[in-house]
Amino acid sequence: MSKQRWGSRLGVILAVAGSAVGLGNFLRFPGIAAGNGGGAFMIPYFISFFLLGLPLMWIEWTIGRFGGGFGHSTAPGVFDTMWRKNRFIKYFGVIGIFGPVVIFSYYTYIGSWLLGYSVFAVTGKYAEYTEAAQMAEFLQAYQGLTVNQDFSGLGTAYIFFLITFAINIIVVGFGISRGIERFCKWALPLLLVIALILVVRVLTLGTPDPAQPQNNVINGLGFLWNPEWTALRDPGVWLAAAGQIFFTLSVGFGVILTYASYLRRNDDVALSGLTAAATNEMSEVVLGGSIVIPAAFAFIGAAGVEAVAQQGIFDIGFITMPLVLGQMAFGQLFGFLWFFLLFVAGVTSSISLAQPAIAFLEDEFRLMRREAAVLFAVITFLLCQPVIFFLGHGVLDEMDFWGTTVCLVVFATVEVILFGWVFGIDRAWTELHTGSDIRIPRIYRFIIKYVTPVMLLTIVISWIVTNWNTIFYLEGVEAANKPFVLLTRVALLGLFVFLLLMVRIVWRRRPETTTPEGEL
Ligand code: TRP
Repeated sequence: MSKQRWGSRLGVILAVAGSAVGLGNFLRFPGIAAGNGGGAFMIPYFISFFLLGLPLMWIEWTIGRFGGGFGHSTAPGVFDTMWRKNRFIKYFGVIGIFGPVVIFSYYTYIGSWLLGYSVFAVTGKYAEYTEAAQMAEFLQAYQGLTVNQDFSGLGTAYIFFLITFAINIIVVGFGISRGIERFCKWALPLLLVIALILVVRVLTLGTPDPAQPQNNVINGLGFLWNPEWTALRDPGVWLAAAGQIFFTLSVGFGVILTYASYLRRNDDVALSGLTAAATNEMSEVVLGGSIVIPAAFAFIGAAGVEAVAQQGIFDIGFITMPLVLGQMAFGQLFGFLWFFLLFVAGVTSSISLAQPAIAFLEDEFRLMRREAAVLFAVITFLLCQPVIFFLGHGVLDEMDFWGTTVCLVVFATVEVILFGWVFGIDRAWTELHTGSDIRIPRIYRFIIKYVTPVMLLTIVISWIVTNWNTIFYLEGVEAANKPFVLLTRVALLGLFVFLLLMVRIVWRRRPETTTPEGEL
């Protein structure tokens, strides 16, 4: 069976950048940065980029292409080819399918709110609201948590969900080059242009209220960019910065590894990985950093940024921003651009979350692409239902916790150690530079082998120590929601065990005999 391939180098870079550029860039980043003191946050953030994010980006591109040469596009097969002697390592790879499936199941629903709000912005459905409390009620009614004059149930939300879900399945159903690549080739440039329009609009706001001269765009930018060195001593800021780097680059989930498996043996990974990471960072700190924070500062002042810091990222996106944008001339248009930007950014990310599971079904079960896409659709459609109908009971948060936080740290740690230690740094370095258009500074040999794993292990340990109670005793979860959260947990565990069994069955049935292409 011939393997799918990317059509062009630009295509794969745009697809990986599309996965990385998402809600994290425009909502999570400003929220986390504001919550950690703005300028205090940016130093650990950039250090985390160079010591954690970029090395992992290179590792995932390299091991993905390597495993692809053996006909494997997902982590179980990739890990297995990297460590032939170990029978258990492939089971760790299951995280690289499980995590994306779980994230996909709520990410598409959130994406659908953005589609809904794009329409509401244009039609002026929320235009009359000028207070945060009113916008909050609008959002809750849309989500089916309350009933008001705007929405009397989940009907509207469900329709937008079906549309968004269908778009995702159709794109992945067309496959790597005709689906994902073709979609990202226009979607990524489109979203960067929309973001740029919003940035220009925000940066030209100046001082909207002359009576409050300190409330201006420049002070907003200053909040984010004036460095504050004392914060380097706060471990909490480091943890937040490292977490944001992983989240925004989409590394440590198994998704980029899958995309990279569709490269050819001599395709460059060093420069392409760097380019994709740089595109994401540009769109995060330059574009994402120049919309929410300066806009909130200009209209509400320091208190506005304070509010951004304390709100969840949804409140920033769905409550604060539409109110702020609504105060401008052509507010409906800018409101539309804001939500549509996030919607497009969300879809280019969610399709990448779908691909590992689909690839697993294709490679290991020999399903046709269309069949795999349909089976994936059925399973994730079912998983989406509790997210939609029990939203108020913490199901989404629970899935987010396991999907992004837990899977991420474990998977990233396994990847780094496999690459730098089991595979061996010499072989790893050669593999990384096979067909490469740049030479990576040698210091990265040292970073990949020692610094990245030590930082990751430190994060894992300090994270377990600080979160122990929350995880095992469900501290902070309302008593009424505990059954829902526990059931979610049981369901996720069931899915995980099911995937473990699938891997076991596949490897039993078909002992690994494939040889890398071109090396016969
Ligand atoms: N990087 C995405 C963003 O910034 C979110 C994300 C996290 C993601 N992990 C992922 C997307 C894995 C795709 C795959 O919003």
